[in-house]
Amino acid sequence: MPENDAFWDFYWETRLQAMENLGKREAILAASRLIRRLFQQTGRPLRLLELGCGEGQIVGTLADAHVELVASQAVIGVDYNPTSLARCRRDFPGFKFVEGDFTDRTLLASLGKQDVVLLVNALHEVFSAEVSPELGEVDIPAAKQRVEDTLAAVVQSLVPGGWIVLFDGLEPAGDPDEAITIRFLDDQARQNFETFTSQYQPFRITYQPAGNPLRVTLSRHDFTRYITKSIFLGKHLWVTERFESYQYFTEQEFRDVLARSGLELSELRTLTVNAEKWRRWVEIETPGVDFPQEHILILAQWVPPD
Ligand SMILES: C[S@@+](CC[C@H](N)C(=O)[O-])C[C@H]1O[C@@H](n2cnc3c(N)ncnc32)[C@H](O)[C@@H]1O
Repeated sequence: MPENDAFWDFYWETRLQAMENLGKREAILAASRLIRRLFQQTGRPLRLLELGCGEGQIVGTLADAHVELVASQAVIGVDYNPTSLARCRRDFPGFKFVEGDFTDRTLLASLGKQDVVLLVNALHEVFSAEVSPELGEVDIPAAKQRVEDTLAAVVQSLVPGGWIVLFDGLEPAGDPDEAITIRFLDDQARQNFETFTSQYQPFRITYQPAGNPLRVTLSRHDFTRYITKSIFLGKHLWVTERFESYQYFTEQEFRDVLARSGLELSELRTLTVNAEKWRRWVEIETPGVDFPQEHILILAQWVPPD
């Protein structure tokens, strides 16, 4: 069978079954299409870097699938978590995994120039790390600037015409202070909300009771964080998730930051994969308000000025 789009659709359908309900599956599919297209254009093996590679699921899976299209000695994952990197090295022994902070320009420069840089669910952690001791929560302007500085450093690590594949959380458009009233559909959902408000670290979550114990009013900003974190409540991952804000930029802010970084947008998609679960726990009573688009997927190319 020739390796056309139908071949790859079938390949990924079987290979990514375990990621069925994960948004980042879309990042793998988009990156796979990009790698195939780029290889056709350049005719040479590609250099592939993932920043915040975790256990290597994204970069390892992509490089394994496209072993003839990538330069295996130039497939690199960076993460500062040594336990995750040990797993990467075990599961994907052919590639290079580097321990370090990917916001460090010197580290990035030491890795050479890349054809494709993957940032999958990584930049929101850069944003979330910018907690101000004075404020007791994330310093939003400083944190956004840190994300933008990181992106600018990533652009420096691309070859001219190189690409980024960015997948992450999305801050909904609209007034973040707008009041939204929600009704929990059962006591467990109400209890989970209590756990969320008392344990979530990046921001202080405030709400007002709205008539009966199952109804509360809170800001759009806080609601978005609650609803996207609700899938982790009661699960082991909550231990780390409670320290992270998945949202940081609105779609317009992503567009603006990309443009300022010299990146030309090629594809931008927003998506949500958890709305059905959310509907089982919570009803939104405020008219005209819906559950948020949770994720954003961006493919952008660095086109250096003439
Ligand atoms: C949510 S995980 C995503 C892992 C992987 N990209 C995936 O989607 O499967 C984010 C990863 O980024 C890493 N990380 C966050 N900030 C980092 C930084 N400044 N430098 C290096 N690694 C970082 C964390 O250790 C974590 O493994």
